[in-house]
Amino acid sequence: MELLVVDDPGALAREAAARIADMVAERPDALLLAATGETPMGSYAELARLRRAGTLDTSSLRVAQLDEYRDTDASDPHSLYGWMDRALLEPLAIDPARVIRFAADEPDAELACRSYDAEIVAAGGIDIAILGVGLNGHLGFNEPPSSADAPTREVALTPESVESNRAYWAGSTIPDRALTAGMKTILATRRAILLVSGPRKAGILDRVLRSAPDPWLPASHLHRHPDAIVIADRAARPVA
Ligand code: PGA
Repeated sequence: MELLVVDDPGALAREAAARIADMVAERPDALLLAATGETPMGSYAELARLRRAGTLDTSSLRVAQLDEYRDTDASDPHSLYGWMDRALLEPLAIDPARVIRFAADEPDAELACRSYDAEIVAAGGIDIAILGVGLNGHLGFNEPPSSADAPTREVALTPESVESNRAYWAGSTIPDRALTAGMKTILATRRAILLVSGPRKAGILDRVLRSAPDPWLPASHLHRHPDAIVIADRAARPVA
């Protein structure tokens, strides 16, 4: 797994966006697996800027959701789909018909997960994944422990994840279950970019970089990915 350390969050956003834009130039109908969370927001804003500047054509780009809270539907502003819509789909003019999403309000979670996976297979697989890492080492909602072949599934969120979602659920009950693309799906992407920003992520990033693939540190499975890069800013990676 390659590591690229850049000066600050602005440089991180530009670097990640440039790599996505290169992929889209090569393959205009690329399928992008897109994380929500704070970390990729600058990269998505930069992609929107490139589109406005006329240097990025997103008219065929396709997007897949990485994870979703259980029992939320796409119109729920709290849903991760809602977040992705505001941050990525709308600014890049990506029609919902070009989005693979979780039917998280489907009563049968297993069915929702199998249909998500089937759509990804039918779409030809994921070309590029933009990921963030949780303070507990999760990727998507692959909470520790998650094996490298963990399938797309319904998961119980760890107390740390529920806590870090609190800010987004002012006044309402924070969900403690979610659907997530499995580690197996994440490891099958053609290219993976893990974005890590800020001093609070320095400890977990150091562990991920040093660790052999370990179910208790799901992001460490990226060491097995054939084309994975970590792009970190200096605050997240103060040491060389
Ligand atoms: P963050 O979330 O980008 O908001 O830090 C990352 C994650 O928990 O996966």
